Amino acid sequence: MSIRYNEEKRTFTLETAHTAYVIGIVHEKYPVHLYYGKKRREYPEYRAQLKSFQPYDPVEGGVFSYDAAFVECPFFGSGDFRCTALRIKNSDGNSVTNFFFEGYRIIKGRVDIPGLPFAEGDCDTLELTLVDTEVTGCVLRLYYTVFADHDVITRYASVTNKGAKKVEIEKMMSLTVDLPGREWDLITIHGAYAWEHMVSRTPVMFGNQSVFSRRGASSHNFNPFAALCSRRATEERGEVYAFNLAYSGNFLTEVEQSHMEETRVQLGIGSENFSWELRRGETFFSPEAIMTYTSRGIGQMSRNFHRFVRECVMPKKAAAPRPVVLNSWEACYFDIDEDVLVKFAAEAKKCGIDMLVMDDGWFGKRVNDRAGLGDWWENPDRFPKGLKHFVERVKKEGVKFGIWIEPEMVNPDSDLYRAHPEWALAVPGRETGQSRNQLVLDMGNPLVIDYLKESFEKTLGDVPFDYIKWDSNRHLSNVASSALPSNRQGEAAHRHMLGVYELMAWFRTRFPDMVLETCSGGGGRYDLGMMKYGDLIWTSDVTNPECRTLMQYGASIAYPAATMSCHVSNPGADTKEMAFRFGVATQGMFGYEMHILNADSAVKAMIPAQIAEYREYEDLMREGELYRLINPKKNGDVSAFYYTNADAGRIVFSFIYGGVADGAGKTYKLKISRADPEATYVDRLTGIEYDGAALRSGIEIKTGTEKFVDRRYFVKK
Ligand code: DGJ
Repeated sequence: MSIRYNEEKRTFTLETAHTAYVIGIVHEKYPVHLYYGKKRREYPEYRAQLKSFQPYDPVEGGVFSYDAAFVECPFFGSGDFRCTALRIKNSDGNSVTNFFFEGYRIIKGRVDIPGLPFAEGDCDTLELTLVDTEVTGCVLRLYYTVFADHDVITRYASVTNKGAKKVEIEKMMSLTVDLPGREWDLITIHGAYAWEHMVSRTPVMFGNQSVFSRRGASSHNFNPFAALCSRRATEERGEVYAFNLAYSGNFLTEVEQSHMEETRVQLGIGSENFSWELRRGETFFSPEAIMTYTSRGIGQMSRNFHRFVRECVMPKKAAAPRPVVLNSWEACYFDIDEDVLVKFAAEAKKCGIDMLVMDDGWFGKRVNDRAGLGDWWENPDRFPKGLKHFVERVKKEGVKFGIWIEPEMVNPDSDLYRAHPEWALAVPGRETGQSRNQLVLDMGNPLVIDYLKESFEKTLGDVPFDYIKWDSNRHLSNVASSALPSNRQGEAAHRHMLGVYELMAWFRTRFPDMVLETCSGGGGRYDLGMMKYGDLIWTSDVTNPECRTLMQYGASIAYPAATMSCHVSNPGADTKEMAFRFGVATQGMFGYEMHILNADSAVKAMIPAQIAEYREYEDLMREGELYRLINPKKNGDVSAFYYTNADAGRIVFSFIYGGVADGAGKTYKLKISRADPEATYVDRLTGIEYDGAALRSGIEIKTGTEKFVDRRYFVKK
């Protein structure tokens, strides 16, 4: 059991393979935070450090101040003036919140979170129960689920109203960690449409810094992930605490350095435009947050999260090789033509491609982006004999078939909207702004979910498809729901997300064999929530390899290559460019996005060999351990990394050089420190042999004026 309770000291120690997290119960009623970091023999004990102006409770044997302590769940209004995790408005109309420790349970396994994504695997859970007997009668449960083998602890909480009167949750964070000291750097991921996954590292300053989404989706703009690392931390060395949230809607990841030079981290649902009415007997669960600690640098932090995401978050199916797809979007856009796509399928088969994915443009009146969303039946002009007939034709050519959908959206020009305008999020009496000519369906309304299930059942139920690409191309503004009373409108955005998850879960159960690629205008929902349901995520709409090098590096900070969908798009007639695009796209789950019928013949002739090469090592990218050697942001468009397996028997190494003018004529020495010094390796792509010791001391690569990818696939002899 990874959780111990020390009765005498009243401490809980949660241990993973290399880390420990320690909680103390002081004065019988306050759960305080004592330690998070490397495993040790002894852990610090609670010491009161009360200063003037810190409100306190006189308790037996002294005083206790929320404002002076490190606490497990800071409450709004009860004397902790730092950022707080829980704010509940009581029936008197004030939001002053307070709970006291009542008891605990140590559970083998975990407590599921109804309706929300959560991690699964070998784990133990500590449940702390706190009660507010004084005012609301609510019960607060704090959960700590320990995935010992992964060095990951997850955090979530629930509030149950056992009082006589209803209350309103106004803010509920999933995780709070108080860390001593101020010498931290904050690493976050930001971006925009077509420019996702940029990494920023800045010193933590006094006051509050945050990344967040108020867009109803986690979004391209900030990712819920954040890490705090020591100022001198590098890829290989230094302390790193990292956090993430399994949620795809509004979030808040805040870091606050207090005047006392201590640093508080919190993650949870974004509290702007959020409130949740809780009546007697009802329970509300927060989404699950995850955290890891390592003293072995940013690289190890990423590897901890990568393995955890692969093994405990992603669907089991994602552990299998993904099909190499040919996606129709960049070739056809909305011009979907049955006969052309059947020819695509035949050509794809000849090239060794596994699957044709038909993107946007196949349904309703969807001949451009102004109409059709919501009308989930095939366009009869495009498929006169029906979708099933078309898919059977594709399959006769010997490839699998995937199809694009965007269930959460509706065009005003659609039969659905004409029949049910009230099913779109909208403020009564006010014009709703559009984005890509579309509105957002109120996915919190059960009628909408029923309609979508029925539509997809009818249209896809007997179609032998193998893959879904699930898109979402706008954010939520004018968030108001016709299905909720006026006093519950603050629930609309979270209910929307619960509806999205319900529909995704339905798809997974109804079509258990499908592969699900999620997408939101590229990587606009690159989060653990989507990873729970989807097998991979379209990393960005930008397939330009120089930009992708940067974006894929950024995504790799928090997420494994197994999640990254990466395509080779049209290189024209340039075979060198084709090779370069292949080298970059094979940093993730690889496919093509080009007009295969019009492609240059020399370029097309390269595809079978590319796929054969990719199949040699794709499992290493998908499941292996990543070592980043050159951060492309710091070094123009030069990037280097390798993936290896547990015993370093196989290593796939990549050096990517984008041919920048001032990058020519440089020599890089790249150390493959995981290579076995006793072994001889052979590069399977060239047949050249290398001593493991030589790989460890570094391979030299020189740059010229032209771009290239130097890929080597070392296998122990
Ligand atoms: C945005 C996606 O990122 C693209 O790949 C494509 O599927 C379009 N939507 C289709 O509308």
